[in-house]
Amino acid sequence: NIEQTLSIIKPNAVKKNIIGFIESRLEQARFNIVAIKMIHLTREQAEGFYAEHEGKAFFDRLITFMTSGPVVVQVLEAENAISRYREIMGATDLSKALAGTLRYDFADNVTENAVHGSDSVESAEREIAYFFANNEIFSNY
Ligand code: CMP
Repeated sequence: NIEQTLSIIKPNAVKKNIIGFIESRLEQARFNIVAIKMIHLTREQAEGFYAEHEGKAFFDRLITFMTSGPVVVQVLEAENAISRYREIMGATDLSKALAGTLRYDFADNVTENAVHGSDSVESAEREIAYFFANNEIFSNY
């Protein structure tokens, strides 16, 4: 089944100048990039996006990091995109990420973990709508 998922290339990865490298890996894995923009999140935008983590010990660190520079937000479309993109990203915690995953290669620590991906169909819908209007998404289906 064809799914869409929200992907973010986080500020540390943008600073490393590896946007194209990440996109190339995603395209090789047959993801279609059907929406894309670069933005510098405000604190309010970042807090709204990560609302489910409010109150957690890492929340403030997360928001400070996510607003530290521009990010790339994008919608990936593919067969089983949500779980397949999570496999390519690797575990949230760098120390658990498998070799060959984006986080193994590009994460600096558990907060600065290079990329984000939606964790379910429901969060993908919410996260995509958070950043993109329907007429900014160019689905192949
Ligand atoms: P992400 O997949 O974007 O979702 C929540 C983010 O919180 C996560 O990636 C990390 O950037 C950050 N984070 C920092 N510390 C933790 C932690 N201990 N557990 C989970 N996420 C964390």
